[in-house]
Amino acid sequence: MQLKHRVALTRDNDHSCHCMPSNAPMTASLLLATLVAAWLLQLALGVGVWVWRRRGHAMLAPRPASAQAPHGAQGAWAGWRDFRVERREFEDDGQAQCSFYLVPVDGVPLPPFKPGQFLTFQFMLPPDRAAAAPVTLGAARTLTRCYSLSDRPDPKAFRITVKRVPAPAHQPDWPPGAVSNYLHDHLHEGDVLQVRAPAGHFYLDAAPDVPAVLIGGGIGITPMMSMLRWCLAEQPGRPVHLYYGVRNRAEQAFKPTLEALAAAHPALHLNVVYSQPGADDVPGRDFQHAGRVDVDLLRRTLPHGRHQFYICGPAPMMESLVPALAAWGVAPADIHFEAFGPASVPSLAPASGEAAPAPVGPVEIRFSQTGRTVVWDGQDNNLLDFAERHGVAVESGCRSGGCGSCQVGLTGGDVRYVNTPDFDVAPGHCLLCVGTPATALVLEA
Ligand SMILES: Cc1cc2nc3c(=O)[nH]c(=O)nc-3n(C[C@H](O)[C@H](O)[C@H](O)COP(=O)(O)OP(=O)(O)OC[C@H]3O[C@@H](n4cnc5c(N)ncnc54)[C@H](O)[C@@H]3O)c2cc1C
Ligand code: FES
Repeated sequence: MQLKHRVALTRDNDHSCHCMPSNAPMTASLLLATLVAAWLLQLALGVGVWVWRRRGHAMLAPRPASAQAPHGAQGAWAGWRDFRVERREFEDDGQAQCSFYLVPVDGVPLPPFKPGQFLTFQFMLPPDRAAAAPVTLGAARTLTRCYSLSDRPDPKAFRITVKRVPAPAHQPDWPPGAVSNYLHDHLHEGDVLQVRAPAGHFYLDAAPDVPAVLIGGGIGITPMMSMLRWCLAEQPGRPVHLYYGVRNRAEQAFKPTLEALAAAHPALHLNVVYSQPGADDVPGRDFQHAGRVDVDLLRRTLPHGRHQFYICGPAPMMESLVPALAAWGVAPADIHFEAFGPASVPSLAPASGEAAPAPVGPVEIRFSQTGRTVVWDGQDNNLLDFAERHGVAVESGCRSGGCGSCQVGLTGGDVRYVNTPDFDVAPGHCLLCVGTPATALVLEA
């Protein structure tokens, strides 16, 4: 079509020459000007055709999976995507914390994520192992779990680090953690996993002028590793104070990595805190402080001035440290935290200053599958806490609206969310972990 168009124009040019009055003398300069004009016109057309072809090609090329549907991270994908375990590696002497490097099976480069975000996984475990999980829904053998990204963004691979979860100390005869033990014992190089795109609201603020204080307790070190690696690479001048609370050297993950980073980066202030140092653990060499990470330690070791605090650790650490920081005078907007499991951290004032919705008066919540009707009295932060408190078994993962595992059918009433959840809620469904009732409800749980 382009060629035809060009031929027609050339004919028109020819014609315009032939239509000149026969008696009009064609001067050399007029002839030259006509030829130059024709040549310029052809050049412009040629460029136009090239641009059109380029644009047409870009429009026709298949869009990479990573650009199809944003979900939490910029340029992420929707739904599940297959990842292959490329390599696994223990991070601690006790071999209880194992990193898994995951590469996309489709080979499309990975989108960037925000350091601190997590991945959501779906596991099909054999019935005997799935039954070990505290909550299984009916005969379902699919378990959903979230794992923080433990390294900075890399278009080639994601890394997660999973700690083996034993039975609780007070119930040693209970089955140990279903998924974490399954991954340690049965997930090998070459195996394929289903993964949702990075999500989560717990991530490092990229403002380079405010020093960051990263506090990780136990396996809560994983999002801190991602934040730390990102910060040292992208904002090398920004002071970072890392506090890592762990029992002793045997349980410390990433020891050689952290020591190498501290030696290479003067902006990193490393504070490893052992609560039960072993006989061979040497102060100054293995750890900087004995005891726990608390406000007293922070007060003694941090320089004066504003800091942004990021905390992830076991429930007792979160439940004591977060309110203590607020009581110390740290602005709520500078306190960011995430718990890997249930933790009763008192809510701080919304950072945005946004008013919390007016509480709904007592309303009936009917759980249609279990046949229970309970009155919502406003005691709970969300419908997931409410369901669990009343003994209704519901699957959960992130507890922050990112993974979708607490999604249930909503057959009556309205649920409200203070912020739009990261997860795209299916029509006729709701997310329990970030939802509260706006009216009486009927939930398929
Ligand atoms: C946002 C987020 C990020 C996370 N990041 C990480 C990470 O980077 N690394 C990491 O290791 N983990 C992380 N977690 C935690 C992880 O998702 C899992 O919760 C953890 O691995 C335990 O799962 P599990 O299936 O092994 O244990 P589960 O099977 O869920 O068991 C948990 C505990 O319950 C006990 N239990 C067994 N039966 C019962 C019963 N009947 N009643 C009560 N309790 C019982 C088990 O013994 C175990 O102690 C994260 C969680 C979240 C929400
Ligand atoms: S538990 Fe993840 S969305 Fe509710």
